[in-house]
Amino acid sequence: MSSPIRRIAICTGGGDAPGLNAVIRATVIAATNLGWECYGIHEGYNGILFPERYPDGGVFKLTRDRVRGIAHLGGTILGTTNKGNPLHFPIRMPDGTVKEVDRTDEILEFFGRRELDALVSIGGDGSLTIAHALAKKGLRVVGVPKTIDNDLDKTNTTFGFDTAVGFATECLDRLHSTAESHQRIIVVEVMGRYAGWIALHAGISGGSHSILIPEIPFNLDKVAAKIRERDNQGRLYSLVTVAEGAKPADGHRAVLQAAEIGHEERLGGEGERVAKALQEITGKDARVVVLGHLLRGGSPTSFDRLAALRFGAAAVRALHEGHTGIMVALGFPNVNYVPLEEVAGRMKGVPLDCDTIQTGRDLGICFGD
Ligand code: F6P
Repeated sequence: MSSPIRRIAICTGGGDAPGLNAVIRATVIAATNLGWECYGIHEGYNGILFPERYPDGGVFKLTRDRVRGIAHLGGTILGTTNKGNPLHFPIRMPDGTVKEVDRTDEILEFFGRRELDALVSIGGDGSLTIAHALAKKGLRVVGVPKTIDNDLDKTNTTFGFDTAVGFATECLDRLHSTAESHQRIIVVEVMGRYAGWIALHAGISGGSHSILIPEIPFNLDKVAAKIRERDNQGRLYSLVTVAEGAKPADGHRAVLQAAEIGHEERLGGEGERVAKALQEITGKDARVVVLGHLLRGGSPTSFDRLAALRFGAAAVRALHEGHTGIMVALGFPNVNYVPLEEVAGRMKGVPLDCDTIQTGRDLGICFGD
């Protein structure tokens, strides 16, 4: 039988998402109620890998007082990073080359030395893959699914997604009138890397006339035809929502910075390319709005806040019940537990046969195919 839990650590990794602080608050309150102490790790695992950078030695105590009034705040009070994955940590060698090393043993050693009995790891695919590796090495770990992109498998949705979709929808709502007044094409680029969830949900909700997502390689002649069709009907403007990872059927996705050891590729620029090409093809004036990191900010919607609070409380329940190596997931009507091995390294794109895409098609939205 495993030893009882007295102290747990919480970490937030990868891009921030509205709701992180709500998970932290619920975890701390539920754990404190069981008599456990909670510690926050600074900036992903940086607090452990670089304790000398922090006056408190890399982790700090999270009391009820410390988490008061944070559930509605965006960002994370722990800080986060999407660099320095401890499974593939980049090290510069004496000859100038960079190689990746596995530093997860240092994390286990830190947990042992600081008498931390379990970890609640809040993150997306990268963080949950690390969590899975730590669990396999014997650490008690529960994962919590976070990402505005909603691209994690085995959960109905991640927290952060609803807030991002709500904001993108409001932006589209606002763009209708200016696009119509000027008889323009307005292209709105949204985040989402390799999954089109934000573009699809916000695009349909916000009345976009075309939606381009990574799952459906596009042909801009189809989008131009849709714009002309609208023109012929006297609707002299068009909104086009583009996921940053959308790509033409005969080309590549727009990459701002190629992947390197230590960090993933950075996407961006597809909206600009689409706007320029549509202006050329149709002869209409086109503008582009890149929502980018605005989608990661703001107060979590009540949906995301509640999901985050439920996840935090469920993570503590799971540990208390003796679970490890699992992720808390949003099912209906309950949160359930899913083995991390069923989540790690698996991306959930938009299924092409889902009724949301069909709804878009039924409404006459063009997907560029
Ligand atoms: O959180 C995921 C995400 O929002 C992706 O959609 C986007 O490509 C990425 O983060 C950008 O992250 P950053 O600019 O922080 O590296």
